[in-house]
Amino acid sequence: MKKGLNLLIRNGHIIDPSQGMDGKGDLLIEDGRIRELEIRDSEFKTQDSRFKIQNSRLEIIDASGLYVLPGLVDMHVHLREPGYEYKETIKTGTMAAVRGGFTTVCCMPNTKPVNDNETVTEFILRKAYAEGACYVYTIGAITKGQKGEELAEMGMMRDAGCVAFSDDGFPVMNSLLMRRALEYSRVFGVPVISHAEDAGLSAGGVMNEGALSVRLGLRGIPAAAEVVMIKRDIELAALTGGRLHIAHVSTAGGVRAVREAKKAGIAVTAETCPHYFTLTEEVVYGYNTNAKVNPPLRTERDVEALKEGLADGTIDVIATDHAPHHMDEKLCEFDKAASGISGLETALPLCLRLVEEGVLSMRDLVEKTALNPAMITGIERGSLRKGAAADVVLLDPDREFTVDPEGFASMGRNTPFGGWRLRGRPVAVICKGRMHEIDSGAVKQL
Ligand code: DOR
Repeated sequence: MKKGLNLLIRNGHIIDPSQGMDGKGDLLIEDGRIRELEIRDSEFKTQDSRFKIQNSRLEIIDASGLYVLPGLVDMHVHLREPGYEYKETIKTGTMAAVRGGFTTVCCMPNTKPVNDNETVTEFILRKAYAEGACYVYTIGAITKGQKGEELAEMGMMRDAGCVAFSDDGFPVMNSLLMRRALEYSRVFGVPVISHAEDAGLSAGGVMNEGALSVRLGLRGIPAAAEVVMIKRDIELAALTGGRLHIAHVSTAGGVRAVREAKKAGIAVTAETCPHYFTLTEEVVYGYNTNAKVNPPLRTERDVEALKEGLADGTIDVIATDHAPHHMDEKLCEFDKAASGISGLETALPLCLRLVEEGVLSMRDLVEKTALNPAMITGIERGSLRKGAAADVVLLDPDREFTVDPEGFASMGRNTPFGGWRLRGRPVAVICKGRMHEIDSGAVKQL
């Protein structure tokens, strides 16, 4: 018996789209790696398993009633370190990830200093290796200081470990720079992630543009601000052959543009976030700053279009855009409040609502929250294949809870879902060679 984590997880419902697996079975972890997995029609009796239990120190978990899934991969989070440790740190952000069922996160470059060179990349990776509860990969900035003026050293950052490039938080307004970034993305084989927002159209806007923004006296951001940039970037992807990924799609027009581009064979992928398919702009009513996010929450029509886009495969990924902020940055006038939602600890149960509504199957959901983001970023995770490091989440789909931001592992309590009653919770997450019991007592040992 090797000295690392040794676990036999029995009778769980294993879903692993990377191997086409979906059924009841056993999963054996040896020395922190997946050693065997097997789907069976019937429940195992203790002696039944063909996995030989050679050592009494092997822990055996009864996962009946639970899903056994590859650890989720979030390709869009803000960890805030370095520079904004008062909002979140690598340690607290990754703890929030694990609490939410994520074993891998990719962090955006809008830190201070911006992650636009290999020194910052190396700093984040080193810190995450030492302190991170889960695996962290970095996304480098497209332009120096995210100022949109000059390309950053993409090659050096790629060599240092960046898995994608993005100026997320800001659009790259200069089309020539975006063209060059996409050209490099082709050479490096990594995606460019577009924060699709026409800054001219969105200038000064703080919520969706429409009747409600007029009623509230708030400056609106039209859907067109997103759609025109998605269309521009699709044109540039077609021109360059670069790999384009559209972040946080929030509009029906955005979904349509991506759908058409895919039909035309252009290399584009897209993500949306739980808040965009769960909430509408109505939540802003009462000047609720926890509902202030960029792009803004939209309308019922957009929510429906996003669900259609998720169902028909136009939208490949569900990411959280976890954007923690300090309380003081939200306890102020709506105009002045920071944009963003602390999303890691509510994402999975919100996604499960899509399964309940029949929008996605469980298998689709695992594809969009584990396999696809891993494939798009070229990370060898999001799968339970034999020999891989054991990144596993045990999910109780029936466990109900009330969202209590004060109980978050994240330092960011800025959520519009506080007080919501949600169903479905990770009860244990296996990552980096250890098992985190999230709901103590929920993991039954045999
Ligand atoms: O709402 C947002 N917050 N949207 C972004 O694109 C950036 C993020 C942040 O960094 O706070």
